[in-house]
Order: sequence, then structure tokens, then C-alpha cells
Amino acid sequence: METKILSTSEYDTQLAGKILAGGGLVAFPTETVYGLGANALDENAVKKIYAAKGRPSDNPLIVHVSEKSDIAPLVKEITPKAQALIDAFFPAPLTIILPKSGLIGNIVSGGLDTVAVRMPENEIARRLIKSAGVPIAAPSANTSGLPSPTKAKYVIDDMSGKIDAIIDGGDCKFGVESTVITLATDTPVILRPGAVTQEMIEAVIGKVDIDRAVLEGMKSDDVASSPGMKYKHYAPKAKVIIVDADKKTYEDFVNSRENAFALCFDGDIVTVPKITYGMENDDLSQARELFDALRRLDEMGAEKVYARIPNISGVGMAVYNRLIRAAAFKIIDLKKPFFIGLTGQTGAGKGYVGQYLSMLGFNILDSDKFVKKIYDNNPELLKKLAEEFGNDILVDGLLDRKRLAHAAFSSKENTQKLNQIVHPEVISLCKKAAKPLAVLDAPQLFEANAQSDCYKVISVVAPLETRLERIMARDGITREQAMERINAQLDEEYYIDNSDFVIYNNKEDIQTQINNILEEIL
Ligand code: TXA
Ligand code: MG
Repeated sequence: METKILSTSEYDTQLAGKILAGGGLVAFPTETVYGLGANALDENAVKKIYAAKGRPSDNPLIVHVSEKSDIAPLVKEITPKAQALIDAFFPAPLTIILPKSGLIGNIVSGGLDTVAVRMPENEIARRLIKSAGVPIAAPSANTSGLPSPTKAKYVIDDMSGKIDAIIDGGDCKFGVESTVITLATDTPVILRPGAVTQEMIEAVIGKVDIDRAVLEGMKSDDVASSPGMKYKHYAPKAKVIIVDADKKTYEDFVNSRENAFALCFDGDIVTVPKITYGMENDDLSQARELFDALRRLDEMGAEKVYARIPNISGVGMAVYNRLIRAAAFKIIDLKKPFFIGLTGQTGAGKGYVGQYLSMLGFNILDSDKFVKKIYDNNPELLKKLAEEFGNDILVDGLLDRKRLAHAAFSSKENTQKLNQIVHPEVISLCKKAAKPLAVLDAPQLFEANAQSDCYKVISVVAPLETRLERIMARDGITREQAMERINAQLDEEYYIDNSDFVIYNNKEDIQTQINNILEEIL
């Protein structure tokens, strides 16, 4: 099929109206994103929308009208809250859901007994609907799963040859799809945030809820209040990861990554290839540019994209909602110290893993060194230790570490006592010293309960015999003494069960194991 490219002239909109009235498909601009329209009262025409987009048939469509008076026939009843929203906002980037009337077929409503209705603010859209003379069912005019089109050229990319016509109306004003709110529940619920914000709506009809799926991923057994929520969405070909960080931390992070692309704000100082999506404190500019930015990243051939997180308030909630779906809910939180905890049984080969990570540019925080610092500079702490383990651990007021080790590491109980005294101080020093991409190298990580401070935990394990030999050689101790130390530690199963990743120091090449783990973490 040849797809006509039309202008916004009176003649062309009339022509497009005729195509719609005759059962054809026309893509048209709205103030949110481009829509792919068909006569909502003609099931055969509506079916063609699903085919052109590759859209799952249980995902219902929004019905667009050009006059407020065209809403009543489509719904069972316009409730007082619905009327209040219509009066306050329509025409607007707002969609309301109400129980449907008999006019709405099952294809449009995806088998539900409700219907979504919207009167767009964009005048070309309203003129088109008026000239078609029927309500127009229209999803966003993208291939299902891709970012919604905010420019005619993206509609042409996705829909050329599949639909009758495309009206080129330039760039869309808001750039994210309409706010969707259901009024078919006792308390209204926002199913999709948009340019008409929760605050604006609450000012008119009082309390509304935000569906949990707006900001979080859906679990596989959740039932979607809005079928669109459960499908993959807005996803570019590139793998997108949101970075939750302030400007400077984000810049440092993304600039230190290899083969990365940045999706950031105007003015961010970034040395890797970048696409910006608006300004830091301007949620409307972010909304307007986000989908375009995602498509341009694909055009640039980006494979891995680190996106700077937007503020989640106001229209920013809509921006975040789209971005988090584009990122398949992957976020790196650099606001909490980005420790990777590295631990393992004594003699398992943790030191080697630490050296390799350091070579890759990680900031290694050696908890043993911090412990030493504390012993050297904290007389209060030494006093506490002497009370617990006996005065002969001190020689001339200084700690004899060998004696302390002997007293503390000979039983699990004593090791635990030592940890309780020492480790809160260690962790707090480490937190102060941590730069992005820090590894907290801590043999007693679990004993100190520091795993909760870590973004991910890697444990290194190795066969008993290997470890015994290493410890004996390293510390110049007997087999029995080495065994005693090992027995005072957690067993291998504990490390495996409580770590995000385990490195086996007897299997394949350790560097490959580490690289694979980093690939997943980062
Ligand atoms: O801004 C917009 O709303 C754009 C322009 C073209 O108007 N349209 C749009 O449509 O974004 P679409 O189909 O891409 O998204 C509509 C969303 C989907 O997530 C769908 O599941 C939900 O609205 N929806 C539609 N009818 C519904 C209903 N009866 N109950 C619950 N959710 C519904
Ligand atoms: Mg869509």
C-alpha cells in the first residue's frame, strides 16, 4: 500500500477525514504524540490498527472526539467526577476511562467493559475528527514496543506502506502520551501519568491514587489495571540503564564507562557520545524530547545507554514512567554508596579478585587497612577490646594484633564479639572514603552485617585443601591452626546462599568469571 503524506491544509484534512470515514487508517499529530486513527465504530477498520502496529489484541484503544458533547453516547454514564474533569480540562492531554456504552465494540475496548475517551487539544486532530464525522480510535502511531512518535518522520519510519495516510503536523507539543485516569473505580486511579498531573487533577476532584505499576515493574502474577502496562514499552534497541545520581556523580560515572552513550540533560559535561533530553529542572522540556532522544540513540547505533534520572514530581513522573520502561526497570543507584562487597573464606583467593578489580579501575576499600587505622587512632576502642579479650592484647598501650587475632579468631563467638565492636566504625570510615565504583574488600562482610550497605555482594570460594595450603604458606602457621581459623568462619554454603555472585577459585579462568559478573552488575 502506498502511504500518502499529507499536510495540515484544509484540503488535506478533509481528504484524511474521508479516508477515516471510509474505513482507512490515518496517522495524525496530537499535542502528545502522533496517533494512528480509525473509525472507532467500525470494527474492521479498528482491526487494521492492531495489524499495522503489531499490537496485542487485549490492549484497548483510546477513543478520540472533537466535541465534549460527543462523549455521552460512548459511555454508560458521565459521573460527576468525570464531568468535573471534562469541564476543567478538555480539550487536553487527558484520557478518562468510564464504563462503555453499547456503541463501543470489543475490539476497541480489548474485551473490557470500559472505554477510554479523550478530546485532544491539538486543533488539527480535532479538525480531522470532525471532518471524519465519527469518533476515532487511536493508539500512538509507533510499531508496538517502540518509543511513541513525536515527529512525522518517525511515523513514516514505522508505518510507511502499512497505512493509508500520514498528516505531517510538525513536532508534538508535550511529547509524552496523555494522562490516563480511570473513573470506573471507587477512588479514581491514574494508570499512566502525563502532562495533566496528579496535583492538577486532585485540585479538581480530590484524592486520586497512582497505580503501583506507574513507578514499579509489574510482577508476573499481577493483573494489569491497564493492559498497556504489562507490555514492553518505549524500548530502543540499545540497552538503557537509569543512573540515579546528582549531575557531578553522573558525569564522572558515565565518563568512566567504555563504549557507553549518555542520555543526559543540556549542559551536562559528558565526554562519551551523548543525546540530551531537555533541561535538568524543566520537566516539560524533558517530556518533549525523551522519545525523540531514544530514537536518535538507535540511529547513532548506541548499544549501552546510561540515562540521567529525571525528578519524579509533576510532569517528571510521566518522564520517569516512560524512561523506566525503556530501561526495563534497570537502575543504578549512585546515591547510596556504590559498594560492591567482596568477601569469601580465608585462603579462597579474594585478594587476587581484588587486585584484578583494582586494575579495572575500581576504588578498593580494604577493610583490614581501615581496621588498622582504627586500632592506631582509637584508644577508646582498644579499651573496649581489652575488656573483652584480656589486657595482654595490649603492649605498652598499643595493640598486639597477633594476640588479638589469637583471642578473637579461635571461636565463632569471639569473632562475632570482635566484629560488633570494630565493624560499625570500619563501615562508617569506608563510606566516607568511597568514590563511585568502590569495592569493599571485607573478609568479615557478613559477620559485620555490611552486606546491607552493598549494592551487590561477590564471594570468592575455593576447595578446602587449596585454602589450607594457602593459609599455611601465607601466615606461616600449622595445619591445625589454619583449620581452626577456617572453622571459626562461615561455611561455603552460607557464602553461596547470601551473595549475589560467587567466584569459584577452582573452575574456569577467574578473570572471565569477574568480567561476566561486572557485565551484569554494570
Ligand atoms: O496521548 C495519547 O493518549 C496518545 C494519542 C495518540 O492520543 N494515544 C495513546 O494510545 O497513547 P495508546 O494506545 O498508545 O495507549 C493507551 C493506553 C494503553 O496503555 C491502554 O492499555 C490504556 O491506555 N487503555 C485504553 N483503554 C483502556 C481501558 N478501557 N482500561 C484501561 N486501560 C486502557
Ligand atoms: Mg502507545
